[in-house]
Amino acid sequence: MGKYLIIGPSSQLLGMRIAKLLNIETITTETKKFPDGENYLRLNIDDESIIEGNDIIIIQTTGASTKENQNARIMELFMMISAAKRMNPQNLTVVVPYLAYGRQDKIFRPGETRFASVIVKMIDSLGIDKFYTVDVHAPDILNDFSIPAKNLDPMSEIANYVKVLNLNNAIVIAPDKGGVARSEQFAAHLGENIPVKLFSKERDVRTGEIEMYADIDLSGHDVIISDDIIATGGTMANAIKISKKCGANKILAVGTHALLLENAAYRILNAGADEIIGTDSIDTPVSKVSLAKLIAKQLE
Ligand code: R5P
Repeated sequence: MGKYLIIGPSSQLLGMRIAKLLNIETITTETKKFPDGENYLRLNIDDESIIEGNDIIIIQTTGASTKENQNARIMELFMMISAAKRMNPQNLTVVVPYLAYGRQDKIFRPGETRFASVIVKMIDSLGIDKFYTVDVHAPDILNDFSIPAKNLDPMSEIANYVKVLNLNNAIVIAPDKGGVARSEQFAAHLGENIPVKLFSKERDVRTGEIEMYADIDLSGHDVIISDDIIATGGTMANAIKISKKCGANKILAVGTHALLLENAAYRILNAGADEIIGTDSIDTPVSKVSLAKLIAKQLE
């Protein structure tokens, strides 16, 4: 049985890195937009029989970027899965490093939908065999898959990058309650007895505005603020300002999925961060940590 990696338009660098590690052939895609805005995608193959009976992996992240929004990325993902599925692979594994809509996992106001679960069910309905994502906002949503679905933890990879920066008296900050488990994992990989402190964050569910508090002494410490997603940069900018007020020295802003929408990078650096660190789940200038080994290990 042959093995092929279909690399979606949003995961080209990470896809190529994984293909090199696995030493497998890749299939690219051809995309365009119809005049009415609909997406078009075809697998770039001349002979459909290369999929039939083979082990096929698809990788496509679904974060918004300057090139495309997340809805288009999800449509492209559906098209890739549905095209491959039509050609009868033996196994179809799907990797979505950043799962868009993952943050809509709860009902905050009357009339809302738990849309993260709908996205999961839509992917599941296309008949795939296995699903992988990375540091998903609410891992519970993967229970809505009917097939094996795994959330990969990139904290060791990110910690390896941070380790060589030789921080002094490092402290890890979780900018909200939801991030505590992640920050503890990260601190454990970073070294022995690295403390984790929690900032308290409240978001107005109507306006989206954030209020953050902390009353701790960070003087003499370098600080790593660790989050799953950096979107508008609002959470990070607040946490950085508070860290500064509490006396922090160096400040690193670390996000697994650094979407960096609009002026997020400016907001974060302007608030006082020394460096922004993200992974190649999203391809941006701060994608300094590669997820290729972590994902390739699962696909071997
Ligand atoms: C929220 O619960 C997430 O963990 C992140 O803190 C949030 O998505 C970051 O978004 P932003 O950068 O827009 O503040």
